[in-house]
Amino acid sequence: MYNQAQIIQLQDLTKEYLLNPHTIEITQLKQLLRFHEYQYYVVNEPLISDFEYDQLYQQLLSIESADASLITADSPSQRVGNSLNQNFETIPHLVPMLSLENSYNADDLNDFDRKAKEGAGDSSIQYCVEPKFDGASISLVYENDMLVRACTRGDGVAGEDITQNIKQIKSIPLSIPLSQYGLQQIEIRGEVIMSKHSFARFNEKLKEKKLATLANPRNAAAGSLRMKDPKEVAERNLDAFIYHISYVLPIKNGTPSALLKTHSGSLELLWNLGFRSPQKEKKLFHSIQEVIDFCNVFETERDNLPYDIDGLVIKINDFALQEKLGMTSHHPRWAIAYKFKARQATTILENVEFQVGRTGAVTPVAKLKAVALGGVTVSSISMHNEEYIKEKDLRLGDTVMIERAGDVIPQIVQSIPSLRKGNEKMISFPTHCPVCQAVLEKEETEAVWRCTSASCDAQVVEKIIHFVSKDAMDIKSFGEANIRKFYDLGILKTIPQLYTLDFEKIEKLEGFGQKSMDNLKSAIEASKTQPLFRLIYALGIRFVGETTAKTIASQIKHLLELQDMSMETLQSFEDVGVKVANSIFQYFKEEKNIQLIKELESLGVNMIQTEHTQKDGNLSGLNFLFTGTLVQLKRAQAEAIVEAKGGHILGGVSSKLHYLVVGEEAGSKLEKAKKIATIKIITEEEFIQLTSS
Ligand code: IVH
Repeated sequence: MYNQAQIIQLQDLTKEYLLNPHTIEITQLKQLLRFHEYQYYVVNEPLISDFEYDQLYQQLLSIESADASLITADSPSQRVGNSLNQNFETIPHLVPMLSLENSYNADDLNDFDRKAKEGAGDSSIQYCVEPKFDGASISLVYENDMLVRACTRGDGVAGEDITQNIKQIKSIPLSIPLSQYGLQQIEIRGEVIMSKHSFARFNEKLKEKKLATLANPRNAAAGSLRMKDPKEVAERNLDAFIYHISYVLPIKNGTPSALLKTHSGSLELLWNLGFRSPQKEKKLFHSIQEVIDFCNVFETERDNLPYDIDGLVIKINDFALQEKLGMTSHHPRWAIAYKFKARQATTILENVEFQVGRTGAVTPVAKLKAVALGGVTVSSISMHNEEYIKEKDLRLGDTVMIERAGDVIPQIVQSIPSLRKGNEKMISFPTHCPVCQAVLEKEETEAVWRCTSASCDAQVVEKIIHFVSKDAMDIKSFGEANIRKFYDLGILKTIPQLYTLDFEKIEKLEGFGQKSMDNLKSAIEASKTQPLFRLIYALGIRFVGETTAKTIASQIKHLLELQDMSMETLQSFEDVGVKVANSIFQYFKEEKNIQLIKELESLGVNMIQTEHTQKDGNLSGLNFLFTGTLVQLKRAQAEAIVEAKGGHILGGVSSKLHYLVVGEEAGSKLEKAKKIATIKIITEEEFIQLTSS
């Protein structure tokens, strides 16, 4: 859309205007705002800060409010709409909006290829493959460079006018340079989506407001198209990919763009017009086998994308061939969707079990009729708490929709009340602990019911399991099942007993050979020298996760120092608020906890902060990776800084990475990191700033 020279020129102009905002001329100001919206929302490479953008935007508003005749329909200020003029009128599409045929395996794709070759009378077909975006489809019409209408799919023949809401999506331009490409009118198709990152943030906000959260990004995107208030749509931070040109009307006597000969060309044209088309995501192949191989590889990569896709779309690239093949009333014969393994399924909620965790929290677990979901068999799903059951109106015997989004654990999306037969039963939450029968209690501000007995078997055994677990004391070769077994047999009843186990008894148990005994012994021995933060985490103090444990460990020399610490001192630690401080404070006021710690110390468990480098570290718990050539620092030097401050260096880009520090000529690592929304990508300069505080 913008070439390098234009980018530099527009950026210079921006800086100039930011220094002297009053000298700005409105046409140029609008151009600058559009340019920065494009950089931010389409290219994903913002060139100015939000604050600077806002300064320009406010300047536009003030010029427009002084003289309303200057307001044009494509002014960035005109995205803001109001709910009064939204009546979602039904409007026919210029060309019907068809669906796609689905394929699920190599056979289906080979069939498609065979039929396409037969129909086209051509044996050398080029295919263009792109993501199948999992959102809500839309159709847009631009005339004389301006966006005139946006519609939902509707029944495929006519959709509802949702122009006001679509204007809230900043990656959809309000005007485009159509005439430059010899076109007067264009109808295009695409998908409104919500990125995984925006979805997570939006749900966080809903949680804070104590509102029901949304099941998945697709529902979040689809549910916003027909919202009454466009401002609510704007808050959802939606995005749109445009992947199809359904109709073009050339300018009289003009020559339409030469790009309109192939699908890949049309994606390029859409990109040049300023849309977020899958121009970079698309791939071209010369045989169906290459397409099949690509589909198989891509299925494993889907979780690395910043948005949800439910498959790939394979399109015959050549428009002349497309035309020759034509379409059925349902789908074009020149395209097919390759659907990834379903991550949604329906099944029956057969039973509910109530499990007691280490803090006494009672969690309802749905027992489901086993069903295949995204490659695994699912038969039980946590329902978190009583509220969850009520919110989703779940009853025993219900048919429920379940889902696995990304690599996230399965969840119940909703019950399907229309399939009820009348014999479904309401789920009643117990009043007493299902394990020890003690009465359950719930704090006013909390959603969970808890068992009130500290000696509850379930809590004790879960505490031991947590103590031993990988992120805690990491006592390997000690599976959860063994701990339960030892507990039931009376061999292991408390945490300190881990260090005084009767190995003679264990040796006689089935499945315990010499080798596993030796492994267990040395794993237990090794745990005694674990760093202090692991022990703090292993104790299972409420609200003290790994990161907090690291912070606390870095502030003390011996664990029992915490016994004398005031709430104020605890709260002065980074990221320790009242809730966490209070929990630590209460823990160290309880005599039995102090007893436990002293007993562990007498058994040889490390209580001392030994990793001094971490003491002043402000990077503890953070993972770094460097890519490209650093200018001011040597790579080894930079890595040493990270480690000295308690951070870690990772070997490659993954979702575990927190910071990617980018030097000159960074390559594939940068590209990969860009796809993972949680990774912060920083320059060497920013790294120096971050680590010099
Ligand atoms: S092409 C005639 N391309 O999938 C052209 N559709 O299951 C038909 N979709 O209705 C559409 N990503 O809403 C096309 N890259 C993509 C797509 C895509 C998502 C949606 C679209 C369509 C549905 C069919």
